[in-house]
Amino acid sequence: MKVLVLGSGSREHAIAWKFSKSNLLSGLYVAPGNAGTEEIAENLYDVDPCNSASVINACKKYNIDFVFVGPEAPLAAGVVDDLDAAGIYAFGPCKAAAQLEASKLYSKSFMNRHHIPTAYSEEFDNYKAFERAVRKLEGKKIVIKKNGLAAGKGVLESDNIDEILEFGKNVLKDDTLLIEEFLTGWEVTIFALCDGKDYVILPSCADFKKAYDNDKGPNTGGMGAICPVPSVTKELMAEIQEKVIDRTFEGISDDGMTFKGILYFGLMITADGPKLLEYNVRFGDPETQALLPLIESDFGSLFNAVRKQELKSFPLEISNKYSLCVVVAAGGYPGAYKKGNIVHYMPRFRDDLVVIFHASTKLDIDDNIITNGGRCFSVVGLGEDFSIASQNAYVGAHEVYFKDCFFRNDIGKKFFVE
Ligand code: AMP
Ligand code: GLY
Repeated sequence: MKVLVLGSGSREHAIAWKFSKSNLLSGLYVAPGNAGTEEIAENLYDVDPCNSASVINACKKYNIDFVFVGPEAPLAAGVVDDLDAAGIYAFGPCKAAAQLEASKLYSKSFMNRHHIPTAYSEEFDNYKAFERAVRKLEGKKIVIKKNGLAAGKGVLESDNIDEILEFGKNVLKDDTLLIEEFLTGWEVTIFALCDGKDYVILPSCADFKKAYDNDKGPNTGGMGAICPVPSVTKELMAEIQEKVIDRTFEGISDDGMTFKGILYFGLMITADGPKLLEYNVRFGDPETQALLPLIESDFGSLFNAVRKQELKSFPLEISNKYSLCVVVAAGGYPGAYKKGNIVHYMPRFRDDLVVIFHASTKLDIDDNIITNGGRCFSVVGLGEDFSIASQNAYVGAHEVYFKDCFFRNDIGKKFFVE
């Protein structure tokens, strides 16, 4: 099996890291990859993940027979459809199914049509109607969502009318939007791994989106994650499965679609039960970095079974440990930050204690690892309980140093008592 992972973030490093441990692989490539994936795979820097011809050429050149699509953009661009047409297996949904993430209007109408609990919302495509609606809600906290993909920057939660109108005006220049009821509760992420015929639910994860401790500061792509989430009891999971997950897969089938890939359910657990905030059609970042070290099954065997649509009979093995991921980011992130800082010390730990995944790193001409983005590393600690996992993660995070780096000190704390 020769595997190509598309993407360059920590999530893709974690996916490649799992594949790199499999004896069934005869080749592992990442396009374009980062300085971390460079250590375990061959990076294909010239391949553009969103350009089907570029991906297909690489598959032919290196005899790649399994493509794992990490991020959403290639999925929304239809790269999987083009790979399928070229006879190359790609793990990820087709363009039509990727609309569940790529269009908030589509996913909202899907949720409503299939009776999946979600926040009340209204759609707008012109500013006047939007402004009228917002003025009626003056003083209330509401959520504004851009319809199309926005790399985590398409959602505003606010009660400030000027900020809301400004955000909406910008979105409406070239897209439509939703005004959504603001829900309160706690958030959890559930992934379903789907082979196109059957699916399995993976351990629950939570990500920590605010930049600073105690959930203060602006939203980010995610500053940390835990897995599994202690407050997701069996009863709650059964409710999520019945009201959200099963109805989603029934809806997909009723709509005449199939889903192959990872379906991400972003949920708010409210006083009225679970409500679905969003679908993503791929693994989440940073949840994946916390989750994958807990999957004990060999990735080569697992994804061979997925390719053959034999997931139902695959004995998926999950560790009973706990995992906690701390993101080390560049000073200033998610606002303006500096790139190109040299990473001075890259520690090595035992994989069963601490695993470090890169994001946005590259090698300079002297082979130094340098930062190349906002979120630079995911440091994952593992342990028999969350307190040990947290200690391990923070020992690792303190060892990763570059100028002005920072991380949150309270990842996971609200979910467990030390
Ligand atoms: P989305 O891309 O739709 O998941 O939104 C990104 C983030 O915005 C979510 O993870 C939540 O933290 C927040 N959010 C989205 N929709 C709502 C809502 N209706 N009520 C409260 N928070 C929300
Ligand atoms: N962690 C949220 C996301 O991947 O979209």
